[in-house]
Amino acid sequence: MNNNYNILITGCEGQVGKEFQKIGDSDFTFVSRETLDITDSDAVQAFLRNSNFTHIINCAAYTAVDKAETEKDLCFQVNAEAVKNLALACEKYNVVLVHISSDYVYHPNNDLPIDEASTCHPKGVYAESKLAGENHIRQIIKRHIILRTSWVYSSFGNNFVKTMLRLGKEKDSLNVVNDQIGSPTYAADIASVILEMIQNGEKWGTYNFSNLGFISWAEFAKEIFKQRKLEVIVNEIPTSDYPTPASRPLNSRLIKSKITDKFNVELSYWKTSLKKCLKELDN
Ligand SMILES: NC(=O)c1ccc[n+]([C@@H]2O[C@H](COP(=O)([O-])OP(=O)(O)OC[C@H]3O[C@@H](n4cnc5c(N)ncnc54)[C@H](OP(=O)(O)O)[C@@H]3O)[C@@H](O)[C@H]2O)c1
Repeated sequence: MNNNYNILITGCEGQVGKEFQKIGDSDFTFVSRETLDITDSDAVQAFLRNSNFTHIINCAAYTAVDKAETEKDLCFQVNAEAVKNLALACEKYNVVLVHISSDYVYHPNNDLPIDEASTCHPKGVYAESKLAGENHIRQIIKRHIILRTSWVYSSFGNNFVKTMLRLGKEKDSLNVVNDQIGSPTYAADIASVILEMIQNGEKWGTYNFSNLGFISWAEFAKEIFKQRKLEVIVNEIPTSDYPTPASRPLNSRLIKSKITDKFNVELSYWKTSLKKCLKELDN
């Protein structure tokens, strides 16, 4: 980056937040839930009033999708009300707000690839809270970027890749769903693309972003074991055989031409990014 930027990164201990920490630019200020709870609107206002930030990248979120079904208030506080706080503070202090949202906001009833103009049918508390957060941003602040992403994993935190690696060492075979189709997204790629977007001009709006290629979770699991040379049999099962408190979209096929056309960014193929993450885990 360069001296024109002064960027606050919230939720810095999460998967995406940690990727920004790994980049570790001097233009970044990192805050965790302990140092800045984004649900505390006074604290958010004070933080911005006393600083000179050009951008906030909001990596903070309530992401426990199933638990959200029984923690609706908390989920909405973090994913909707706190996002409203951030948007109001950013608007007041002339700060650009970059926010990360989810493919769950779409939850389509068909198998067609999804662009940003597709109708949203969020199902479940988490999905509804993410769309509510987005809507606050769009209503409050013009200078924003919302990135809708899917199936996030990284070498940090808990995610599908790390769960498969752990289970793959303990078991000879695993049941993994094969009828949810989407694209995994390496959190490091999210951090990189956000920085490219910030440096690439003022093109406000909502953008889909994930790695390239549409696969099922079962295919993802098989590739993780293949790249790690683990002999694990993946039994493909339908979602109906793996009930969860919150419903998952069967179709998460995000079209990414808006982000590639407007920002001229190159997307990484999912297997390539997986390889990078596994290498990172080795280190
Ligand atoms: N993970 C996925 O598969 C996925 C898919 C699509 C979209 N997304 C979106 O991508 C973004 C980043 O996800 P992620 O996987 O990096 O999430 P994550 O690993 O769960 O990190 C979220 C971070 O936010 C912090 N946080 C929670 N409540 C907060 C509060 N009130 N104030 C400040 N910080 C708070 C959490 O702290 P604690 O750990 O202390 O709670 C955690 O460090 C989120 O917006 C998420 O909705 C994720």
